[in-house]
Amino acid sequence: MILPIVAFGDPVLRKKGEDISKEYSELKTLINNMWETMYGAEGVGLAAPQIGKSIKLFLVDASPFADEEPELEGFKKVFINPEILEESGEEWQFKEGCLSIPGIRENVKRNENVKIRYFDEEFSEHIEEFSGLAARIIQHEYDHINGILFTDKINPLKKQMIKRKLTDISKGIVKASYRMRFPK
Ligand code: NI
Repeated sequence: MILPIVAFGDPVLRKKGEDISKEYSELKTLINNMWETMYGAEGVGLAAPQIGKSIKLFLVDASPFADEEPELEGFKKVFINPEILEESGEEWQFKEGCLSIPGIRENVKRNENVKIRYFDEEFSEHIEEFSGLAARIIQHEYDHINGILFTDKINPLKKQMIKRKLTDISKGIVKASYRMRFPK
């Protein structure tokens, strides 16, 4: 089932998500719905707060970037209760976007590598390192479950320039090719 994506301005996007347990109600269904929602919106990542759930869960499918980084072919993962252990490497810029903030793309600086501990959908624990675009998507989604949005990380001048657009999005004055939920 495709769920509406929560738009910028909704307080749920600013909450720190809670850890979940194996027994979390309808977890398999929730994950399936999140995949369907993400693919329906042509995203490469989706975090639970973006569908209105304040929990530590996000998913990533980086395969659309396989043209640029061939090792991303088939890169599809669920991250539950993740914790970034270390970020390293040079900071590099990339124009990011976000399904909760349609129509805005801006450069964000992030570290090249990330070491993260997480549970997969079977609740097996992993400690893995990622780099490049995989790391970037993970960092972006990890920010979501901690109440942080990419627009918090852009340079102040750019931020000033998009202020009006962000206000419009929060009022529902925006066009998206997928269903959204706007703050009251
Ligand atoms: Ni996002």
